[in-house]
Amino acid sequence: MATPTSAAQRVAALREQLHDYSHRYYVLDDPTVPDVEYDRLFAELAALEQDYPELQSPDSPTARVGGAPLSAFESAEHLVPMLSLDNVFDEEQLQEFFQRINKRLDSDEPRQVVCEPKLDGVALSLLYEDGVMVRAATRGDGRTGENVTANARTIGSVPLKLLGSGWPAQLEVRGEVYMPRAGFDALNEDARARGDKPYVNPRNAAAGALRQLDSRITAARPLELCCYSAALHEAEAPWQSHSESLECLRSWGFRVNPEIAVVTGAPACLEYYKQLLNKRDTLPYDIDGIVYKIDSLALQERLGFVSRAPRWAIAHKFPAQEEMTVLEAVEFQVGRTGAVTPVARLKPVFVGGVTVSNATLHNFDEIERLDARIGDTVIIRRAGDVIPQVVQVVKDRRPADAVRIAPPATCPVCDSEVLRLEDEAVARCTGGLVCAAQRKESIKHFASRRAMDIEGLGDKLVEQLVDQELIQTPADLYGLTAETLAGLERMAEKSANNLVAALEKSKQTTLPRFLFALGIREVGETTAQNLALHFRDLDKLMAADEASLLAVRDVGAIVAGHVLAFFHSEDNCAVVAALIRQGVRWPALPESDAAAQPLAGETWVLTGNLETMSRAEAKEKLQALGARVAGSVSAKTDSVVAGPGAGSKLAKAEKLGIKVIDEAAFNQMLGSL
Ligand code: IVH
Repeated sequence: MATPTSAAQRVAALREQLHDYSHRYYVLDDPTVPDVEYDRLFAELAALEQDYPELQSPDSPTARVGGAPLSAFESAEHLVPMLSLDNVFDEEQLQEFFQRINKRLDSDEPRQVVCEPKLDGVALSLLYEDGVMVRAATRGDGRTGENVTANARTIGSVPLKLLGSGWPAQLEVRGEVYMPRAGFDALNEDARARGDKPYVNPRNAAAGALRQLDSRITAARPLELCCYSAALHEAEAPWQSHSESLECLRSWGFRVNPEIAVVTGAPACLEYYKQLLNKRDTLPYDIDGIVYKIDSLALQERLGFVSRAPRWAIAHKFPAQEEMTVLEAVEFQVGRTGAVTPVARLKPVFVGGVTVSNATLHNFDEIERLDARIGDTVIIRRAGDVIPQVVQVVKDRRPADAVRIAPPATCPVCDSEVLRLEDEAVARCTGGLVCAAQRKESIKHFASRRAMDIEGLGDKLVEQLVDQELIQTPADLYGLTAETLAGLERMAEKSANNLVAALEKSKQTTLPRFLFALGIREVGETTAQNLALHFRDLDKLMAADEASLLAVRDVGAIVAGHVLAFFHSEDNCAVVAALIRQGVRWPALPESDAAAQPLAGETWVLTGNLETMSRAEAKEKLQALGARVAGSVSAKTDSVVAGPGAGSKLAKAEKLGIKVIDEAAFNQMLGSL
């Protein structure tokens, strides 16, 4: 039976629409429709392809989802060989690179250079024929790699079909497949929770994901592709420079790194290097250096290659994010909720741009998985603004006298028993408020900016106060006098007076802040807000049973259990009573149900600087009116408050056609509600 034209037309239209939506979502980070709309069109397309199998095609958006697993990868010969890069490690070597170029070209004219972040992932080569992705291959030995087409298809930022026009009949696009840090951290968190071995770094995780024989596994991993070159086989290039080729790639639907810049001369390259090195920790993915490429293709041709590397490009490496050092000792830190965390004390080592002498070992399962012993040589990773981690033990460097690490039976601070519940990865000190470490941490939390916001009460001060037994609980803070405080180390009379004033000021708070400040396990700001809005009154919350707690938005059995346990403790109730006796208070929340709140169900985003109030205050006000306050703009955002200096969030809101108001209009709205 012939396929009806209407079905074929609908399939073509759906594909075009879905290609466009996924390009906006995965490549431009700028979705235009909510996910449900995408899902609806996708389901319609999948149903049509099932009804009319003759319409199925490898460039259909439905072809991204994994098919049957392979038994082995086939090999794939690259049309144009994949080269590698020479490295330089300092300024002098970089100057030498430019001198070599000048000598070969017989002129010291400053050159136009493309500066690109060197992403730390795996190289991938995508072959397009008549605009359709027909093959994806790993680098292999540079001539022949492995055919990983099914896996590459699952990556959202790999275009299955080129957009726009003007593409050559045959095109090999090269880029780096990488795993953003957030995705990597989530993947490892899952692995740890399941008792699996975590990945050492995002590059290994990306390489592992790309080499899965079962593409459904690849599909479940957070991979992205950024492209850095276009290669043509026996065809005239439609561009004269590398930067023009990148522009073409962008217009055909590839993600090209937004940090890429074209500069002139060696000093500007160095400036770019320094700027990106400064920015390194804030980027959402790992980079291990900068690649400089002479922009002009004519010059590239004159310069040519030495063995496998071009003379017209060089990688300028950043300080390594992984280093080896010696595990000298393991200490145990006790957190606010009693969690005992093993901390590695290391022989100091320079890694990721700083000297590191401590690293986290997460928990005892992790120590076992790593089989770490004192005296071992270990690999430390420090990437982004996070605590350095021990990621691997170098077993063949283990000294004969390496010492096994045993979990402590008792708390290193208060000597109470340390227990580990069956379903928990962490061991906890059972000392509760008896434990000075837990007391210190809970008082620090109580005083913190998002909790009671006690200005001038820093961590060191809390530690002194607890160590000198001047305070036991948060409530004792309000009994401190300027005289007592002035007697402490690094406290002058003036700062003592200021702290007493700050303590007094903090007494006037809000119920959500107060609940958050109590430090109930798993009760973060949002849960505290939900509990406050639901019960409106502290006594009602304290008397609530499990069923009524479970009725609160986003509260499940675990959180309900922690709230119940907290208020069942006589010690905790005594602290709450003492705080109120000391004068901690909050305005009553009006009796009305959530649905009657003027902004109930709305999602708001704050961006830019506000002048009449802080962001935290604006957030509180919105939440009190029933709104959710989100950190980023999406199709689900209802309104955006934009102050001066607003950048990408504002631009995105405008693109998506979301209502944007300035601070004056925001204040007016608050006044009118
Ligand atoms: S260009 C002829 N550009 O680094 C030039 N490579 O050591 C060939 N890489 O295998 C590569 N970011 O996997 C180039 N912006 C970038 C890159 C980059 C990461 C990787 C790539 C390559 C390796 C070379």
